[in-house]
Amino acid sequence: MRKLRWGIVSTGGIAAVFARGMATSRRGQVAAVASRSPGKARAFAAAHGIARAFGDYAALFADAGVDAVYVATPHVFHAELCVAAARAGKHVLCEKPLAMSLAEARRVVAAARESGVLLMEGFMYRTHPQTARVAALLRGGAVGNVRLVRAAFGIHRPYDAGSRLWAAELGGGAILDVGCYTVSWARFVAGVARGRGFAEPVSVAASARLSERGAVDADGAALLDFGGGLRAQLACGIALRMDNTVDIFGDAGRVHVPSPYVVTRDLSASRILLFDNEGRLAREETVTPDRNLYAYEADAFAEALERGLREVPAVTPEDTLGNMAVLDKWRAAAVSG
Ligand SMILES: NC(=O)c1ccc[n+]([C@@H]2O[C@H](COP(=O)([O-])OP(=O)(O)OC[C@H]3O[C@@H](n4cnc5c(N)ncnc54)[C@H](OP(=O)(O)O)[C@@H]3O)[C@@H](O)[C@H]2O)c1
Repeated sequence: MRKLRWGIVSTGGIAAVFARGMATSRRGQVAAVASRSPGKARAFAAAHGIARAFGDYAALFADAGVDAVYVATPHVFHAELCVAAARAGKHVLCEKPLAMSLAEARRVVAAARESGVLLMEGFMYRTHPQTARVAALLRGGAVGNVRLVRAAFGIHRPYDAGSRLWAAELGGGAILDVGCYTVSWARFVAGVARGRGFAEPVSVAASARLSERGAVDADGAALLDFGGGLRAQLACGIALRMDNTVDIFGDAGRVHVPSPYVVTRDLSASRILLFDNEGRLAREETVTPDRNLYAYEADAFAEALERGLREVPAVTPEDTLGNMAVLDKWRAAAVSG
């Protein structure tokens, strides 16, 4: 079967990581790149061995040699670009978060459905074998009944007027940038605990601090109650380095995931640790990838297309909408502090 021909939308940081990662993809290849600037597009294409470069995004969407696009701009442009790509008949893999709000995300999902194209939000960790292994451990009763998920994602990027992270007009802030992963993990684990792909909280208690400069949410915490005695305690920040791990506590022990989000960007192995109720290390598992994290993501997408699926099982549109609903609540709680 012919490899899926990808077009990359933007020449930013993660676009380059994706382009490099695609070298290990089994089912796809990067056919083109588009930038707002023709010069940047040409330089990116030359650096990554990409055949075609476009000086505007619309030209990429119109190109017959591209089957699917990877949208990697700042969040505020995701919805509009995804809708334009879908209407042009391109399948869409969009970086997280899919949109700025649940309402926007619903419009993107509707456009993809109307156009009959595949749409996936880029929670790449969901497609890495480590995540499948964690799920298998939980299903196998490794921690007994899951009671608490603790997830933190905090990076330290001090205020920088030139960074999208600190620019409200580009959708900056911690909750949409890194908090989204913690919500996604919590909903994933709650789903696994219930024999599903994801689950929604029955209540969300959230808090966040708006920064003086940039007026974006700089850090925050949230408590998600999934009912039935299962809760998640989440934290995020963009100028607050955290341990960036996930712990899953059950009545029979704890699973510790040291690198739950950007699992590994090379082909190195990752670890999953199991602790007993005395806090002793009971088992250590190693997961060795056979391709890059972003190649797994692109391959999960291509596989869904090959199988004629209407959604990518790892991150379905319904899953994305559930995540966005929680993110809306978390962001609404942000106050100056
Ligand atoms: N999954 C992951 O591991 C991961 C990691 C990092 C980021 N992300 C996500 O990927 C997206 C991009 O993040 P990034 O860190 O790659 O951002 P970045 O380095 O700032 O790059 C963003 C790119 O978007 C394009 N762009 C279009 N309009 C723009 C505007 N008005 N201002 C600035 N750039 C504009 C630019 O490319 P052109 O000038 O070439 O058009 C720019 O290089 C975000 O939504 C983020 O959440 C995901």
